[in-house]
Amino acid sequence: MPDEIDELRAKVEAAAAGIRSRQDLQKFKEEFLSRKKGKIPGLFKKIPALPPQERSSFGQRVNELRQLAERLFKEAEEGLKGSLWRQKLQESIPDPTLPGYLKPLGTVHPIPEISHRIEEIFLRMGYDIEDGPEVEKEYFNFDALNIPPHHPARQEQDTFFVGEGYLLRTHTSPVQIRAMRRRKPPIRIIVPGRVYRRDEADPTHTPMFYQIEGLVVDRGINFAHLKGTLETFLKALFGEDTRVRFRPSYFPFTEPSAEVDISCPVCGGKDPHCRVCGGAGWIEILGSGMVHPQVLRSGGIDPEEYSGFAFGLGVDRISMLKRGLADIRNHYWNRMDFLEQMK
Ligand code: PHE
Repeated sequence: MPDEIDELRAKVEAAAAGIRSRQDLQKFKEEFLSRKKGKIPGLFKKIPALPPQERSSFGQRVNELRQLAERLFKEAEEGLKGSLWRQKLQESIPDPTLPGYLKPLGTVHPIPEISHRIEEIFLRMGYDIEDGPEVEKEYFNFDALNIPPHHPARQEQDTFFVGEGYLLRTHTSPVQIRAMRRRKPPIRIIVPGRVYRRDEADPTHTPMFYQIEGLVVDRGINFAHLKGTLETFLKALFGEDTRVRFRPSYFPFTEPSAEVDISCPVCGGKDPHCRVCGGAGWIEILGSGMVHPQVLRSGGIDPEEYSGFAFGLGVDRISMLKRGLADIRNHYWNRMDFLEQMK
């Protein structure tokens, strides 16, 4: 026969199983455990009224019931803490399994990216980086560079003139003059920058493009220094297997002058139908030469004492080559889908 202890135990167990909140927990404590009104302490109070031989076992069973109630209370309290914590967490943080928001990240544009790579190579060889104005004196762009008055580049249709005696520089070479006037030899500089020519935009021309000029002036500089420097540079940029070829050429500001070719970086000269070199096996990459004595003089340097070499390369062209671009204008259309692929 279940007695009142068994009945109370059933109630305790049912009540404990129903605890869902702090209030439930409090109610449980008051109903069963509180010293004053709790039902379990209430049972203890009955002991003195029992026949002496029953007191001990009754007391023991009530004691067990109290321990059980205390344990259930503790467990419910712990469980509640856990679920409250989980609830808080769910309210305060988003679902971590959802995909994140992607912020579109920009990248370095392909032109400065190549330009920086080239600068790095020359910085390692001890060169400084020089700068010059894009709106340039006609004198620095042409006269000081030994370009004669009848030269076609001096015509309106080839050059953007801006007012009397000024123009948008057609190459970075005028910075040679500026640097020679500003520095004392030894001079070792490269000059990255924009240049302008009145060309209709097409797959191989844009009216604005990028060049990097190089200039070295010191005692005893000769053509071997030019060759060694450019070979070292071109192998660093295009790979150690690259072959370099010098072809006699003409620039008014260098004498002798040479155009420099590299073995085709795409087919290495092996594909007669190569879309980059067209089967020639060689790609023209830059212009160069020994600085003309007249140019040294324009820069305030005595050609009897000093000599130098200079070179100029097109950054856009190198970017096209390295990336296999068919159209130079890709650099300037600002199309995200193109730029994304250039990362
Ligand atoms: N300035 C020349 C050009 O724009 C390149 C060049 C620079 C050639 C220096 C020789 C020496 O074509």
